[in-house]
Amino acid sequence: MVGRELLALLERRRFPVAQLQPFSSGRSLQNVRFRGRTLQAPAIDAKLLSCCQLVFMVSSEEVARRFGPKLAAGGVWVIDDSSEFRLDPKVPLVIPEVNSSALNFHQRLIAGPNCTMTGIAVAGWPLHKAATVREVRLATYQAVSGAGRDALTEFFDQSRANAARQTLAPDGRAPIWPCPARRALPQPIAGNVFPQVGSFDPQGHCGEETKVARELRKVWSAAHLRVSVTAVRVPVVRGHSLAAWLRFSRPFAPQRARRLLRHAPGLKLMTANYPTPLAMAGLAPVFTGRLRPGIDARELCLWVVSDNLLKGAALNSVQIAEHILRKGWLKRP
Ligand SMILES: NC(=O)c1ccc[n+]([C@@H]2O[C@H](COP(=O)([O-])OP(=O)(O)OC[C@H]3O[C@@H](n4cnc5c(N)ncnc54)[C@H](OP(=O)(O)O)[C@@H]3O)[C@@H](O)[C@H]2O)c1
Repeated sequence: MVGRELLALLERRRFPVAQLQPFSSGRSLQNVRFRGRTLQAPAIDAKLLSCCQLVFMVSSEEVARRFGPKLAAGGVWVIDDSSEFRLDPKVPLVIPEVNSSALNFHQRLIAGPNCTMTGIAVAGWPLHKAATVREVRLATYQAVSGAGRDALTEFFDQSRANAARQTLAPDGRAPIWPCPARRALPQPIAGNVFPQVGSFDPQGHCGEETKVARELRKVWSAAHLRVSVTAVRVPVVRGHSLAAWLRFSRPFAPQRARRLLRHAPGLKLMTANYPTPLAMAGLAPVFTGRLRPGIDARELCLWVVSDNLLKGAALNSVQIAEHILRKGWLKRP
């Protein structure tokens, strides 16, 4: 899913692609459309990859591990959306609106961030810059597409089965589980929410919660930031939402925060209304609203929504590529 969004963005933003070579797992015949042409996406071929100037990796950790470092060592720019290298101290983890300065000519393997973390990283950055955030608490409401194509198929299958059961059940009772096979997600997702994204560690944190905390510290260069996350999967197709509580060491007036957020790059502050994933799906910026005081003057509360497939993945990667291009680091075709 991220790969298809990425191609659409390269086309729409007129990235100067001379030749595009898509790849797939090779498990089934995959075609993609680019600039009006249908291109076949064969299984990955290391030799063909090494001839590229720029490689977007939108597949799996395993693929990133297998090809990323070798390609970068051979001079190919590699932008990887998996979590494989995000916390590697040698690899820049980049959200251009926040830390494009982490990019450098000699480090050609670059990691894109976790799609949940991106929203708060962009929305909270102007506030952090102005008055060091000490603590971030998050409750996430994560779309099914964040777990990939198989999870989305599972969601649609379950939704269809639910609809059929509701129609057929004369007593109107809730559908009886289990519904169609579950493989990509740990619980039924149609008509449900569950507080698990990834697997649990011995302390009871799930993978997504740990990733968000560690990646936010890295992108903000804030080693001492305290971050607490409860990650929840919700039956939404695309668009991750976050309830965020930001704690400062000194009072921070909401009016001042609004002034800062109104002009922040990549961010749209909503005041008359609030963002929802349905309304914001397919849109580029991170949206924030319901900015208000928290439990005391040192705390602010925010609601943040961003498209996990765009700013959370494909768009961020294309923005990184555009930055590399602007710097003149990518030989023009
Ligand atoms: N979904 C999001 O919101 C999101 C956000 C941020 C980052 N990411 C990251 O972006 C990457 C892609 O996510 P996605 O949601 O687009 O997943 P997806 O819809 O499940 O697609 C995964 C793609 O990877 C390909 N693939 C899998 N194994 C491969 C292999 N061994 N060799 C070559 N290609 C292989 C698949 O090819 P086939 O089509 O042939 O199966 C498929 O095209 C993941 O690393 C994910 O963690 C996703």
